Amino acid sequence: MARKFFVGGNWKCNGTSEEVKKIVSILNDGKVASADVVDVVVSPPFVFLPLVKSSLRPEFHVAAQNCWVKKGGAYTGEISAEMLVNLDIPWVILGHSERRQLLSESNEASCLCAKRLYLSSNFFDIQYLLIHIFYFLGQFVGDKVAYALSKGLKVIACVGETLEQRESGATMDVVAAQTKAIAERISDWTNVVVAYEPVWAIGTGKVATPAQAQEVHSELRKWLQTNVSADVAASTRIIYGGSVSGANCKELAAQPDVDGFLVGGASLKPEFVDIINAAT
Ligand code: G3P
Repeated sequence: MARKFFVGGNWKCNGTSEEVKKIVSILNDGKVASADVVDVVVSPPFVFLPLVKSSLRPEFHVAAQNCWVKKGGAYTGEISAEMLVNLDIPWVILGHSERRQLLSESNEASCLCAKRLYLSSNFFDIQYLLIHIFYFLGQFVGDKVAYALSKGLKVIACVGETLEQRESGATMDVVAAQTKAIAERISDWTNVVVAYEPVWAIGTGKVATPAQAQEVHSELRKWLQTNVSADVAASTRIIYGGSVSGANCKELAAQPDVDGFLVGGASLKPEFVDIINAAT
């Protein structure tokens, strides 16, 4: 099954309104492959989503870089899926390694015990406070993906191992566990793009070799075939992220199971146009 190429640009915590306008004008002037060939989704910080959405060329779309795990409410600083839908923001990136590492977002396992303890502890003791903090710090990535999809958002779900995990031969164990935490909570993969982002390649300039990327992407696709379905495995786009640049994108894009990219630093530069055209 032919999978449409997908290029995401994760702007992370960068930009001023002037810089954002400059990036948008570079994208609007860029000579890029048609929307029949490639989906392009850029992800500015929350505060610039309306500005980018209103000024970006219509065939490109926008994504938020995260959203809360449930309906909004007394969760200071969080942005709910409902708010993104209300602003007509169609995509959201979830489970990014920077959030897993820095904000201890984790798979179902590490939060499950907190959730069970949290629900059973009594209101006044220290245990309750610790568990409360831990519970809200460590969110279910899988639950986030399920909730966002249930509200009509499309999701770029990130998975990826650390250097230590790769060097210990645990890459597929980690990536499979992260994917399992999502697969256990969703039944419809139509609006899911999986981004394999080896942590050791993010922001380091140490891009995975085409063979390394292809190996994990094909193993991930086999995991989907075995644990979800042949159709989901064949149709789900698995994109690569981690030091993608205008110089290395063509070789990576030539790999049969690399269906596109999630680009960080280079998405803020004119070379992002070359990356969008990598599959042409
Ligand atoms: O989400 C994409 C990002 O993590 C990759 O960052 O700067 O290595 O392209 P970068």
